Amino acid sequence: MAGKIPRQFIQELIARIDLVDLVDARVPLRQSGSNFTARCPFHNEKTPSFTVSRDKQFYHCFGCGAHGNAIDFLMGYDHLNFVEAVESLAALAGLKIPEEAQSAAAESGAKMANAIYELQDAVSRFYAHQLKVHPEAPRAVAYLKDRGVSGELAQRYRLGYAPPGWQNLPSEFSQELLQAAGLRVAKGDKVYDSFRDRIIFPIRDRRGRVVGFGGRVMGDGTPKYLNSPETVVFKKHKEVYGVYELLKQSARPGRIVVVEGYMDVIALAQNGIYNAVATLGTSTSADHVELLFRYTDELVFCFDGDSAGQKAAWKALEASLPSLRDGRQIRFLLLPEGHDPDSLVRTEGADAFLDRLDAALPFSDYFFRSLVQKLDLDTLEGRAALVNEARPLIGRLPAGVFREMIERRLVELAGHGVVEPSDKSAKLVVPSESRAASASSGMRPSTSRLLLALLVKNPELAAIVGDDLRVNPGASKNGRLLQKVLRILDENPGLTSGGILEHFRGTPEGKLIATLMQWDILLPQDGIRIEFSDALMRFEKQLKQERLDELIKKSKKFQLSPAEREEMRVLMSL
Ligand code: UTP
Ligand code: MN
Repeated sequence: MAGKIPRQFIQELIARIDLVDLVDARVPLRQSGSNFTARCPFHNEKTPSFTVSRDKQFYHCFGCGAHGNAIDFLMGYDHLNFVEAVESLAALAGLKIPEEAQSAAAESGAKMANAIYELQDAVSRFYAHQLKVHPEAPRAVAYLKDRGVSGELAQRYRLGYAPPGWQNLPSEFSQELLQAAGLRVAKGDKVYDSFRDRIIFPIRDRRGRVVGFGGRVMGDGTPKYLNSPETVVFKKHKEVYGVYELLKQSARPGRIVVVEGYMDVIALAQNGIYNAVATLGTSTSADHVELLFRYTDELVFCFDGDSAGQKAAWKALEASLPSLRDGRQIRFLLLPEGHDPDSLVRTEGADAFLDRLDAALPFSDYFFRSLVQKLDLDTLEGRAALVNEARPLIGRLPAGVFREMIERRLVELAGHGVVEPSDKSAKLVVPSESRAASASSGMRPSTSRLLLALLVKNPELAAIVGDDLRVNPGASKNGRLLQKVLRILDENPGLTSGGILEHFRGTPEGKLIATLMQWDILLPQDGIRIEFSDALMRFEKQLKQERLDELIKKSKKFQLSPAEREEMRVLMSL
């Protein structure tokens, strides 16, 4: 669809379509008063909190906050972009979208694309059928069985078999189209099928259209995988394998796991892990990342632990930077050497693999760990190099809380101020504890710790902490300790750092506080105040998020009380 769709037309479309019918055809609705309700299709719930109003032509979910009009609903439910949703509604309403006439070239391009989609769908069905009936098929079936693939899974992914021999694709297929799709090649005056004696993996886009194919030899031949060439409908940097099958399983998965191989996706699904997709022999692109973030807020990149895998992970990180808005996250799981997800899940089982996914490194840990690995942060040069390498990358993150957190972490690692290199007595600027922790394994989010450190070193800061935090400091250890320190300061006005320490003498908490007091935070006095109130804001936000998560989790199991629902609504609107 080339030209711009007139606003007027979109308004008319919205007026013509009845949202209630539109939704009801996909999610059966029940009338309740003047509204219609159902269990929300955009999140998991037991009791209906999804409401559609016929008067307002608007839907809203009190559980997850999803809301919008007919276009929004189609975008969300059918995973369409805006133009696709309008097209779909127009078709439903029997209206033709008025727009500037397409150029002849664009029109014939669109025709060609549709013809290829249709052809490839038929070809994928042909190959799937061969897997059942061809005399040589038992070899293919045995190969799949040997790799742990069940008939059910083969069907789900529409796996197929391209028989041996030069020409198997039926002659009713258009030769011209077959060649345009790369399914048949011409050499001299001969033409022959591209895929011969291979297991076939049809690659479907998110709407289920077959955009291309991968084909694997059943032994050690080369190339191991043959793939469709780039065509008008197949761009490898835009498509991922398994996205259609994943979305059929769950419209909004909690996370999506990105792996490298077709067989990794299949093996994970075979083990009940349906939320994996694979790049197509290319590195992860910004388009891939954007595509996947339309359906989830968390991506886990899961690559082999060897150096190729590490390179792939770093490339994925770079490709993700522009997409990492607040609320989205990427994590990294590098597998033990010699394993890919397929071999690992088959060796360890699904539970162990899920544990690994849960423990995957957050962006910040992986980011700084990778950068720091080759640097010596004990030297000024090393710290300068860290800043020089990290800054431009951080600059590609969208502005927001997340970027600020990463910037702060960089400041923590590289040191707050400038230390005279000649002055050997000058203390390292980098808090020793955070360095040690980040060098060994992932350090916890440092906000609460930073708050504690600043507070115990500058007790007068207690005055700018609001009452909320004194009453409800969250469930974390640091949060509770923060509350304790605040109480002590409230009861003992004018208490010094040393005085605080005294209160905790001989306790494990005292040890932590003493360590924090040794953090060398080289900031001018007014800088400390700013730093503290920034950290305070972040911590409060964190607490609200935790509370919200808790409520959401609870709402999946139990009915929330009216007070809890109200609290959730307030928290979501913040
Ligand atoms: P791998 O060689 O890691 O694939 O390549 P794999 O999935 O583990 O293969 P199996 O387990 O031996 O069957 C990862 C991906 O790189 C692309 C394919 O997309 C493959 O899934 N690739 C690999 C090719 O396109 N061509 C090749 O010859 C090899
Ligand atoms: Mn493999």
